[in-house]
Amino acid sequence: MTNDNGNDGAALVHKLEAALGADLVLSGADVARYCSDWHGDVETGAVAILRPRTTADVSACVKTCAALGLSLVAQGGNTGLVLGAIPDAPARQVVLSLERMSAIRRIDADDFSAVVEAGAILSEFKDKVEEAGMFFPLALGAQGSCRIGGNVSTNAGGINVLRYGMTRELVLGLEVVLPDGSVFEGLSTLRKDNRGIDLKQLFIGAEGTLGIITAVAVKLMPMPEQVATALIGLNALDDAITLFRRARRDCCDLLSAFEFMPPLAFTLAQEAIPDLVMPMDGGYPAYVLMEVSGSGLVDIEDLLQRFLENVLEEGLVVDGVIATSRDQARKLWLFREGMNEGQAKRGPHLRTDVSVPLSRLADFVRDAEAAVYAALPDCTCVSYGHVGDGNVHLNVLPPASLSRAEADARIYKAKTVVNAVLDTYSGSISAEHGIGRLKKPDFEARLTPVQRHLLGAIKTAIDPTFVMNAGCQLNYTGDSGQS
Ligand code: FAD
Ligand code: LAC
Ligand code: ZN
Repeated sequence: MTNDNGNDGAALVHKLEAALGADLVLSGADVARYCSDWHGDVETGAVAILRPRTTADVSACVKTCAALGLSLVAQGGNTGLVLGAIPDAPARQVVLSLERMSAIRRIDADDFSAVVEAGAILSEFKDKVEEAGMFFPLALGAQGSCRIGGNVSTNAGGINVLRYGMTRELVLGLEVVLPDGSVFEGLSTLRKDNRGIDLKQLFIGAEGTLGIITAVAVKLMPMPEQVATALIGLNALDDAITLFRRARRDCCDLLSAFEFMPPLAFTLAQEAIPDLVMPMDGGYPAYVLMEVSGSGLVDIEDLLQRFLENVLEEGLVVDGVIATSRDQARKLWLFREGMNEGQAKRGPHLRTDVSVPLSRLADFVRDAEAAVYAALPDCTCVSYGHVGDGNVHLNVLPPASLSRAEADARIYKAKTVVNAVLDTYSGSISAEHGIGRLKKPDFEARLTPVQRHLLGAIKTAIDPTFVMNAGCQLNYTGDSGQS
């Protein structure tokens, strides 16, 4: 295979090694480990894997690749669910892994801030922050593998958004290597800085299409000393929405998570983690996992206890258990987290990540599931997610007996049906996972000419030769990624 500059793969690897040193370049059999997605649905390749150790290394990688006509696909933990971190044009792309840039440069409890390199694993960073008596609130099921640079590049959401916001709201500053190899040095920890356009925002959620994030300055919070968690059984998803409104009022501003799950969630989680023990009857039509947290002169457990007693008495909820230890709370969360792996074990399936106005969430789930079952009666819908953000993962599992081609046909049909209903709700096809390569057609189909013009103008102003993650998010004129 040759790239646009007429180099074949071996010649390109040779040139990369000559320019960057063999220590930074992986090739041959080592490439495969970086070139499949989390679910194992897609396997691809790359000219090479670049593994810089410093920001200067990243800059050298970018300059070298630009000179060789190669595009760089940045990769953090490769847990993204939309194929943004793996190549789609293996003869013309390298993967640049941030895994060797994981240092915590500074944790400053007095300033409520930290500066961390892009390759730090989220859970490891959170543990170090906790050792300093502080708290970094980004929390998601992949936190043992995903990396801060990936979180910022996807503007990740997760379970604490309703209290602390998306990743964007936690970022104070960024260091970014730009497509010409120069460095945007924006690692300020200032809380207020209104000197014109806030340039760092361009790179948050850009999925590596404008530059490579090498370090991030983030906000820290005081560690919540008290955390109370409850699993609640309900008669209907509508009741979960009513319960959320109540919780927002009755639990002051201390509500930190409010997730909904269908009964199938427990089965799926147990398929992934077989020793999980059911904490309550598995037969209720809907479940909520809620968390209240805080520190200071407030009794969080008492607050949650009283809240639950009231809503049980009123008949709004049917059943509820409050975790009595940190370990028990962790086990409740394993049901919510394990259901993703359980779905992965069932084979290829449709994963959606949509948002609608909060007040219409239950209607949307009802309408979309009914439309899926009408079109695909042999499939199973699994709807769950982040109630407080109006964000549903309405996933569709084809029967296990189907061939891959038959399953793919069901997945495509299910996606078309869900998106058609979503459009009637003026919803978003990507609430928190980004666009990557997987959602590109659906994203492009819904862009207005003005939006497309603005996105194209930003891309070509910053990355005129399409060095950064070509083929991701949008096809621009001259883009070297495959469509
Ligand atoms: P990657 O997958 O490596 O990359 C994602 C994108 O960012 C790619 O386009 C890549 O090119 C780009 N990128 C990565 N690093 C950089 C960098 N340093 N500079 C520039 N571009 C870069 N997401 C949520 O929002 N909420 C959830 O609740 C959630 N739960 C999940 C649960 C599971 C079990 C799994 C597998 C995934 C989940 N995700 C969730 C999706 C995923 O974990 C997030 O999108 C996460 O932020 C990706 O981080 P990563 O390091 O793995 O990024
Ligand atoms: C979750 C992922 C799929 O919420 O975003 O579990
Ligand atoms: Zn989610």
